[in-house]
Amino acid sequence: MTIAVGDRLPAAIFKTMTADGVKEISTADVFAGKKVVLFAVPGAFTPTCSKSHLPGYLADREAILAKGIDTIAVTAVNDVFVMDAWSKAADADGKILFLADGSAAFAQAIGLTLDLTAGGMGVRSKRYSMVVEDGVVKDLNFEEKPGVAELTGAACMLGKL
Ligand code: BEZ
Repeated sequence: MTIAVGDRLPAAIFKTMTADGVKEISTADVFAGKKVVLFAVPGAFTPTCSKSHLPGYLADREAILAKGIDTIAVTAVNDVFVMDAWSKAADADGKILFLADGSAAFAQAIGLTLDLTAGGMGVRSKRYSMVVEDGVVKDLNFEEKPGVAELTGAACMLGKL
């Protein structure tokens, strides 16, 4: 079942890169007691994700944080090393929290997987954005096409905060 506004995020474990190496980070670590903007992309380094979606959140980061958001996080069904390389390539280290959902456990748990097997990419995450307050989804936006980042982009998010 697809997660909806008003639902609590399920417990899940991501991997993230830190100064001390790869660490596990739980949904509780990320969301408990915080107001978080989470966006998801079908793949690190894919065209729309790299040229538009992630740069948009970097450009609007200060404005989003000024609206009372504690953390901006991005997730994708990619391994933590790819997510870390993407973060560094985009100069996003320390600005956006990169959450690797390498085996799609989180995407499956919230019902937002995207089957890109025909395109040689396997099971990925749909492109979405959400506002999560203390673990509860308060706003949720999806894209119908994987190569589009409009409703889930930073400008739309900022307009709703
Ligand atoms: C893109 O980011 O443009 C993209 C990602 C996955 C599938 C197709 C396009």
